[in-house]
Amino acid sequence: ASIYILNGPNLNRLGTREPETYGSTTLGDIEGLCRDVGEDLNLEIEFRQSNHEGLLVDWIQEAGDLAQGLVLNPAAFTHTSVAIHDAIRAVEIPTVEVHLSNVFAREAFRHHSYVSPVALGVICGFGATGYRLALEALSTVIRP
Ligand code: DQA
Repeated sequence: ASIYILNGPNLNRLGTREPETYGSTTLGDIEGLCRDVGEDLNLEIEFRQSNHEGLLVDWIQEAGDLAQGLVLNPAAFTHTSVAIHDAIRAVEIPTVEVHLSNVFAREAFRHHSYVSPVALGVICGFGATGYRLALEALSTVIRP
């Protein structure tokens, strides 16, 4: 099965960005972890990051056409994007929303997600391990 793993704005800066919140793990490290987990679970991984909302919408639509599952860290767009909400709603594949940090332990503006109502489930607060958990969760629902 094929899984798209999409990452939103500023996640390209992981490692140097607010390390007290996000740790020292880079996005490259997370991609490597996802590829290892993908191999173990026999999942083909397409891993991408963009700072642009419209490009993320394009990729969600592409995932709907080509993949069996989606792992999405929408980053700040989590809290703002009706377009991403609509894109996920329109695709038929299960989506797991991931956040590195525990958004509920942070500012109030991070407590609302436009993505959660259209996600199969949400994982937050476990850092890069959240991506592993998301892939494991997806592999249990996409196995026929
Ligand atoms: C984040 C949490 C968001 O609130 C924030 O805007 C991010 C990263 C996380 O992974 O913890 O950019 O999605």
